[in-house]
Amino acid sequence: MTKQRVVIHADWTLGTINKNIYGHFAEHLGRCIYEGLWVGEDSPIPNTQGIRSDVLEALRKLQVPLLRWPGGCFADEYHWKDGVGPRENRKRMVNTHWGGVVENNHFGTHEFFRLCELLGAEPYICGNVGSGTVQEMSEWVEYMTFDGESPMAGWRRANGQEKPWKLQYFGVGNENWGCGGNMKPDHYANLYRNYQTYVRQYGTNKLYKIAGGANIDDYNWTDVLMREAHWLMDGLSLHYYTIPGRWEDKLPATGFDESGWFEAMQKSLFMDELVTRHSTIMDRYDPGKRVGLIVDEWGTWFLPEPGTNPGFLYQQNTMRDALVAAIHLHVFHKHCDRVQMANLAQMVNVLQAVILTEGDRMLLTPTYHVMEMFKVHQDAEALAMHGAFGEYELNGVRLPQVSVSASKKDGKVHISLANLSHTDDVELELELRGAEQAYACRGDIVAADDIGAHNTFEQPERVTKQPFEGAELADGKLQLTLPAASVVLLTLE
Ligand code: AHR
Repeated sequence: MTKQRVVIHADWTLGTINKNIYGHFAEHLGRCIYEGLWVGEDSPIPNTQGIRSDVLEALRKLQVPLLRWPGGCFADEYHWKDGVGPRENRKRMVNTHWGGVVENNHFGTHEFFRLCELLGAEPYICGNVGSGTVQEMSEWVEYMTFDGESPMAGWRRANGQEKPWKLQYFGVGNENWGCGGNMKPDHYANLYRNYQTYVRQYGTNKLYKIAGGANIDDYNWTDVLMREAHWLMDGLSLHYYTIPGRWEDKLPATGFDESGWFEAMQKSLFMDELVTRHSTIMDRYDPGKRVGLIVDEWGTWFLPEPGTNPGFLYQQNTMRDALVAAIHLHVFHKHCDRVQMANLAQMVNVLQAVILTEGDRMLLTPTYHVMEMFKVHQDAEALAMHGAFGEYELNGVRLPQVSVSASKKDGKVHISLANLSHTDDVELELELRGAEQAYACRGDIVAADDIGAHNTFEQPERVTKQPFEGAELADGKLQLTLPAASVVLLTLE
């Protein structure tokens, strides 16, 4: 086995890793909001003001910095006024995008802010451009953030919230090239300019406005939006899902072979190219990098689990998802000068969820454990590095074998590593140059004896975080063997 050598520069930072890169997304889709997060105050499932207590406790350990809501595609058919006031009077509607089920609007604006408060997370609200009006969007912002006397502020008070909430992040529509209205970029750019004008800043509440961005590699969309409106936005979004197989012919989340594994690694690494190329376009209009690239939907998308409603997007989560998460987070760290936020899709029971629930039971997925280990990178300084990362080859296609990221904060250095190979361990030498102090090293690992390993309600702890004893530190160099298909976090302090 050839040893791979990587040099990490403790005295050369790439910028701060915005903690919002560890953001989440919860949509009115399947069992994400209802059952997954919200069970209501009268539920036999233990809850805190209607929010499941077990899920809440697990999410708190992730230090969720920010939560995007109410969608997704749902956002562009959501009418916020239906979701405030006494719950028994709230309008029932059909969730046409997701399974055609009845949405009773029991989880609305007040419940969302309560969830964010309980999580200690910043709220990120996505407004309705596709089927809503300028007035509706404007009044929602007034309802949430205006402290004075006005019709919407008065209604909020009547509904039990005296003081306005603090709301920073506001999205003006979602996927307006698709489910959010099937618009062309010029048309949406005009609508963005129009709608955002009435998204008012009240008092000291400073809004960070996010324009609906491109689908995957639609670079023209980014170009048009930046050209037509960059000075009116704080962020521009980008959506990209890792989908082994084809969009119209997805593959199952479990029971895959080496090619299903390899393809997921390859497609995850594509995020690097996407961020690089969208950023390059943004640089043309915004060389100072004021406007953030907001990757507000990312994650794996597989066939729904057999026997579940196909519109609910409920899928299992294996070691493969753990690697996908590590690769994406490393890409976001590397581009921390432009990527100011990223939101894993979705929080509970939908797509690459960190938590799955079934009745009163809950389990943590392999992705959860990676997000939990990596939380130490939040708001840390990303460190520069160079070196050799090995090769992982299948059928003549080559990928780097190891993905590495390092950051520094509060006198500690954290190095996260992922071995993409499904078969081969890799020997690594990590040299920490420019360190101001001598460090001791400890580590944690997420790994399993099978690339398809996952947690079930019968066996909820098959994949968990374990101590990693395999790294030895001498003369500023770390020697370690990184097991195949594993994710490791080393702490130097
Ligand atoms: O996350 C599921 C869906 O994927 C979202 O609603 C939509 O924005 C995207 O297409």
